[in-house]
Amino acid sequence: MNSLPLHRPRRLRRSSVMRATVRETRVSSDQLMMPHFVLPQANGREAIASMPGIERLGSETLVPQVEQDLRLGIRSVMLFGLAAPEHKDAVGSAASDSSGSQAEAVRRLKAEFGDDLLVVTDVCLCGYTDHGHCGIVNGKTVVNDASVDRLVEVALAHAEAGADMVAPSDMMDGRVGAIRRGLDARGLVETGVLAYSAKYASAYYGPFRDAADSSPQFGDRRSYQMDPPNVREALREVRLDDAEGADMVMVKPALAYLDVIRAVRAVTDLPLAAYNVSGEYSAVKAAAERGWLDEGSVVRENLVAMRRAGADILITYHARKALQEGWL
Ligand code: PBG
Ligand code: ZN
Repeated sequence: MNSLPLHRPRRLRRSSVMRATVRETRVSSDQLMMPHFVLPQANGREAIASMPGIERLGSETLVPQVEQDLRLGIRSVMLFGLAAPEHKDAVGSAASDSSGSQAEAVRRLKAEFGDDLLVVTDVCLCGYTDHGHCGIVNGKTVVNDASVDRLVEVALAHAEAGADMVAPSDMMDGRVGAIRRGLDARGLVETGVLAYSAKYASAYYGPFRDAADSSPQFGDRRSYQMDPPNVREALREVRLDDAEGADMVMVKPALAYLDVIRAVRAVTDLPLAAYNVSGEYSAVKAAAERGWLDEGSVVRENLVAMRRAGADILITYHARKALQEGWL
């Protein structure tokens, strides 16, 4: 036989130790950021039907949960806020309330954990407006510049409460620069901005809107969030946010947009976050509950896919269980 293959890539797959030795991509707990939904009642706790394993917690109830997560190695959190229906209005006043759910949670977490925990807040209006849009509405139109003014106020409230970073998720034009200038003018020069730069109008946000009670009451978000078929537009958004002073950028969702993560990685030197969103989480949980997928193996494969595409930071609801179960 003179046809023996010269090249045998399988040699590098023979044993577990060989595979580990040549492994190109790893996921570490330092890269995982856990999202939380903060209730207005400090001692609240509620299950979320469409997101098994995730609960809405009050700012007080959140503390022991975050402490447990810290022991597992989760050292960063992303905080979303909820507001009672009677506290929602046209301009989302409660979003910038210095004693609102997010500001309260920031204060408690920073008082408890200080610099051992990175606290990032989602800056948006949709959980606080009676119409459920991410900005100020005029008729059926979400107007840009008046929305930006409100978002700056929200970011300032979170920063003054002690947030390490604020993360605008509204997709209004110019908000990163406006927030940066607003923070600097208040002397909050150390507060960072994590920009949801390339955020698509995605059906994968369904369970989140249920969790955060933030569905638009008319129309949809397609006049501000990005059109899923576009990738060059994502690069433009990232370059703008970079130029406006963002400290980190984000692509969202993650799994259906791995090509976007890859492309964005090449146009900025900033740290890049991928948001493994609610629908991506719930789809895996639902299939696993039916015994159709092995949850741990699928979660490991999904998280490493985001890293392989080029993400530095993985925002994921799977973070806690992945570490508890040793899935990484
Ligand atoms: C609100 C916001 C959304 C998400 C993060 N911030 C939903 C939306 O834009 O409707 C989605 C997160 C997820 O699905 O996990 N601006
Ligand atoms: Zn929003």
